[in-house]
Amino acid sequence: MGAPVGVGIIGAGNISDQYLRNLTAFPDVRVLAIGDLLEDRAREQAAKYGVPRAGGVDLVLGDPDIEIVVNLTIPAVHVEVSEAILAAGKHVWTEKPIGVDRASSLRMLEKADAAGLRVGVAPDTVLGPGVQTAKRAIARGDIGRPLFAQTTFQWQGPEIFHPNPAFLYAVGGGPLLDMGPYYVSALVHVFGPVAAVAAVGLRATDSRVVQVGPLAGQEFPVEIPSTVSVLTQFEQGGQASSLYSTDSPLLRQGIVEITGTEGTLVIPDPNTFGGPITITRPLAEMIVPPAPVVQEIVEVEQEGVLAGRGLGLLDMVRSIRAGRPHVATGRFGYHVLDTLLSIEESVESGAFVPVQSTIDAVGSIPADFDPYAATL
Ligand SMILES: NC(=O)c1ccc[n+]([C@@H]2O[C@H](COP(=O)([O-])OP(=O)(O)OC[C@H]3O[C@@H](n4cnc5c(N)ncnc54)[C@H](O)[C@@H]3O)[C@@H](O)[C@H]2O)c1
Repeated sequence: MGAPVGVGIIGAGNISDQYLRNLTAFPDVRVLAIGDLLEDRAREQAAKYGVPRAGGVDLVLGDPDIEIVVNLTIPAVHVEVSEAILAAGKHVWTEKPIGVDRASSLRMLEKADAAGLRVGVAPDTVLGPGVQTAKRAIARGDIGRPLFAQTTFQWQGPEIFHPNPAFLYAVGGGPLLDMGPYYVSALVHVFGPVAAVAAVGLRATDSRVVQVGPLAGQEFPVEIPSTVSVLTQFEQGGQASSLYSTDSPLLRQGIVEITGTEGTLVIPDPNTFGGPITITRPLAEMIVPPAPVVQEIVEVEQEGVLAGRGLGLLDMVRSIRAGRPHVATGRFGYHVLDTLLSIEESVESGAFVPVQSTIDAVGSIPADFDPYAATL
């Protein structure tokens, strides 16, 4: 058996708890150092999870035992931090989105290719048992030929829980750029690459107010559309309609329904790793009111081990050792960003926008993938 792979983390904010909890429990990796602009924050997280070293960014980049660095900074600096990681000769796993513009994101991927280094991009929720079981069900023909999907993400907005939510309403954020990666990634796993998008959007208010934490009461600007309705056409013929809104008192999110010729598959929230999966079958005969509409709903058994954030990095680590491609590639993450930016452009222009990038076949996680096994 080889040794676990050395991992570093840059960015010790809100989401770092989930990564640290999981990565410190996966035997195939060892978290060796955490860095942040706010060094005390990095030290606090290191102490909490028993990580040996913590401090500034250079401490992580200069550590010769670290092969791969997790970029948990805010979207506006994702590319800058990922490029610094690559320049230090290390592979990158970055939180989503890959970046906030096409040119710098592509440049970063090209640097990685030139250096023979890998880039992996969140979300890895779609590598969890939920979406992966759904993919297998569709491949088996359980819903016949997939036709279209409907997705919904609507609620009042992240300032209700996030102590520093301004970045979620800045360029690179908003319900589209912040939450779109989950829904678009799930749809691309099912339907393949996106061909074109059309969308309308609105910005309900120019500013919002922090609700929790030390900054509560502080106003911050809204730079992006806070509600976006999207039509998506996939290269291979499927289509989807999607709502992204942080203006809705009604909380309805995590809805992904995929309709095929023989059934409608309801899959778990793509911002989670799993949950109930069902197929609704067509009615055998018309139901006349007041008789209740009762449809046949079949449960699909979810296969795979539920873990959490860090799953994609683990697939990447194991794939590097095995010399095979990992699933959540930089090119996949770029195609998702390209799609989201094309949606923004359609909101501006009112026209259908062709998505310029594409990807080859999307990989899958096998049902017997066990994050808690020592495999290296
Ligand atoms: N919070 C969530 O629920 C959540 C969920 C999934 C994904 N994400 C993603 O994770 C990332 C981080 O989100 P968060 O909520 O933890 O944000 P956060 O603001 O709580 O934390 C970000 C951290 O990065 C540090 N940082 C910023 N710029 C830096 C730089 N140049 N070098 C080093 N450190 C730097 C900050 O000091 C901060 O500690 C984002 O990309 C977000 O999209 C967040």
